Amino acid sequence: MMDGELAGFAIPRLGMGTMALAIEGRPDRDTAIRTIHAGLDAGVRYLDTAWSYYLPSEPGTGTAKDLGYGEKLVRDALISWNGPRDEVLVATKTGYRRTMEVPAFVAPVSDSPESDTQGRDSEGCSRRPGEERQHLQAAGSQYGWMADSRPETMIRDAKESALHLGVDTLDLLYSHGPDPAVPYEDQCGALKQLLDEGVIKYAGISRVNNEQIDLARGIIGSGLVAVQNQFSPSHPDPEHTMEHCAELGLAFVCWSPLGGFLDTFDQSAYDPFRTVAAQRGCSYQRVVLAWELTRYERLFTIPSARNPQEINDSFAATQLQLTQEELAMLPC
Ligand SMILES: NC(=O)c1ccc[n+]([C@@H]2O[C@H](COP(=O)([O-])OP(=O)(O)OC[C@H]3O[C@@H](n4cnc5c(N)ncnc54)[C@H](OP(=O)(O)O)[C@@H]3O)[C@@H](O)[C@H]2O)c1
Repeated sequence: MMDGELAGFAIPRLGMGTMALAIEGRPDRDTAIRTIHAGLDAGVRYLDTAWSYYLPSEPGTGTAKDLGYGEKLVRDALISWNGPRDEVLVATKTGYRRTMEVPAFVAPVSDSPESDTQGRDSEGCSRRPGEERQHLQAAGSQYGWMADSRPETMIRDAKESALHLGVDTLDLLYSHGPDPAVPYEDQCGALKQLLDEGVIKYAGISRVNNEQIDLARGIIGSGLVAVQNQFSPSHPDPEHTMEHCAELGLAFVCWSPLGGFLDTFDQSAYDPFRTVAAQRGCSYQRVVLAWELTRYERLFTIPSARNPQEINDSFAATQLQLTQEELAMLPC
């Protein structure tokens, strides 16, 4: 019940998100590596990262030395791990970047000092004049997230991800999220091209509704294996994308499964889990993760951790069988 198939790997359905090890609030690099090793030693076989898991060191979207921080962390943790590397699925994402510009705005080509006469910026991507980019920013953070899912950016960044991760082919690549400035079918077309060129083995999509899932499936076909959407007691998937994944036979990977750490959320949603946890004598986070695993047999949950204790505690959720009485106390 706790194992599942994803992108050709038969693995525990509790993986590890590595975002908290690479962005604001991250621990030092040694602690981050020890945390990933602790997860792998406990039995984690799915590591989730992204091209955009880094912090710009100066205004802009980051210097060369900033980029790839999170992916290189995963690479180095796997190189220095004394375990079966080939059993570990590494998934990454493309189409977002970090920024210290507020609000993020892509200047018209003619106004951009970094554009050449073909309308290509310094990163080699063509821009549409006057394009505005989606900008997401947690309250209190100096760093934002900027969607940039132009096909050429996605393709170029995916190839960089492979270099950062030190692999020839990416196991699983997600489109990080829809970009209002790019038709969603173009983003899906970029994933299809990456599959056809052998840059990636499998594709996933993230932050999507049912319509976008159907669109992606139509374009990508059987190469599309997973949807990564937000799901937790405080963010319960009101559009029922999980059910839609079940109908289509896609894996559902829940991001921020413990509510996340960047934005505030309704803590009272976790009260029933605290009650069960108090009876069990374990953390409420472990109960939350065990409950999520009961939602769908192809659900994967990928909690972040910032130290070895947290990932050890979370991975124990794979051994926690909630009783019918306990499940009756929790949301259905
Ligand atoms: N696709 C997307 O757009 C998207 C968006 C967000 C996240 N993600 C993915 O989802 C992963 C997880 O999401 P997330 O990082 O937002 O948050 P999360 O997994 O919901 O975790 C939030 C925080 O809970 C704490 N925690 C974790 N395990 C614990 C335990 N056993 N006991 C007590 N506290 C515990 C940690 O914070 P402290 O260290 O402060 O205790 C952790 O950073 C990310 O790493 C990333 O891979 C994807």
